[in-house]
Amino acid sequence: MFSFSNKKGSLLGIDISSSAVKLIELSRKGSKYRVDSYGVASLPEGAANERDIHEAELVGEAIKKVLQNSRTKSRRCALGIPSSMAINKVISVPASIPATELEAQISLEAEQYIPYPMDEVNFDFEVLGESKTSPEMMDVLLAATRTENVEVRLAAAEMAGLDVEIVDLESHAVELLFSTMVEDVEKHDVLAVVDFGASMTGINVFEKGKVVFSREQVFGGKQLTQEIMQRYGLSYAEAGLAKKNGNLPEGYIPEVLEPFKENMVRQVQRFLQFYYASTQQEKIDKILLSGGGASIPGIDEQIQDAIGIPTALANPFSHVVLNSKVNPARFTSDIPAMLVPTGLALRGFE
Ligand SMILES: Nc1ncnc2c1ncn2[C@@H]1O[C@H](COP(=O)(O)OP(=O)(O)OP(=O)(O)O)[C@@H](O)[C@H]1O
Ligand SMILES: [Mg+2]
Repeated sequence: MFSFSNKKGSLLGIDISSSAVKLIELSRKGSKYRVDSYGVASLPEGAANERDIHEAELVGEAIKKVLQNSRTKSRRCALGIPSSMAINKVISVPASIPATELEAQISLEAEQYIPYPMDEVNFDFEVLGESKTSPEMMDVLLAATRTENVEVRLAAAEMAGLDVEIVDLESHAVELLFSTMVEDVEKHDVLAVVDFGASMTGINVFEKGKVVFSREQVFGGKQLTQEIMQRYGLSYAEAGLAKKNGNLPEGYIPEVLEPFKENMVRQVQRFLQFYYASTQQEKIDKILLSGGGASIPGIDEQIQDAIGIPTALANPFSHVVLNSKVNPARFTSDIPAMLVPTGLALRGFE
């Protein structure tokens, strides 16, 4: 989506999230992938509010930092647009429209789905094929976002000297990741991937490898960080660190962490209610967890017990090798948070 050019070769996958900038660089040999470099640089408080970038300059600084600490030489990259800032919808148009008029016609059709004037919107589309409802119609996947969402990300990237080749929706990146690197998509007809981020929690439901349902809710690890800050008088950075290494007073687990985990379970239950209500599909066969929140010990089991669907941590890297400059222990602990940038990096091989 929103492709700027089509040069071949690997691209840095860069995820500007609400808490950090994450980078990954892959190379491919046959069907095998290798991680050549990766890095995470946290964003200071105030750089972004949820997924809205407030200070492009602070984001630009974090990108510079991540380029430096990952030691990559490449500057060509793919960036993501959060699903919550995009419209991603299958629409039907008459199959008789000549290819040259398709864009203009889709722009007209799109107006009814996009709550902004079309001149303030970036959109792209992909022809999916004949419509199920009528052979005279064809289905087109429409992706659109406000131009300002693209521009603020480009501004930050350019400040750091990046050369942006592709801007794609994060849900497309996750879909590409799963179709390329995860065998579970073949085995399970309906797979839900739940991402517990810092400020957002999202779900993508896959049916036979295609994302058919995406949703994001404002809930995330920042809430836990804030509670720790207030309760124990720590700074944002101290609380974030203490949360990861478990260095907190005895009452922390029963009084703070357990209620948070119960809230995580309720988020998943809500997602599933929305999914079942919107699609009337059969049962979800498996839930995979990603995002930093998935690193909380035992959360997979707790969700499985409460919901009754097999649940595990997502690990798209089980067959991936690491370049010698990548620290395996550090990389392994960051895996749950690296799905979006990896899906973006895979755009370089299409
Ligand atoms: N071991 C851990 N225990 C508890 N929380 C953790 C752990 N590791 C990471 N986190 C939390 O996960 C969150 C970061 O996850 P992630 O990198 O997926 O978020 P993000 O992509 O920056 O956020 P978003 O997707 O909402 O923009 C932070 O709140 C972080 O404190
Ligand atoms: Mg994220």
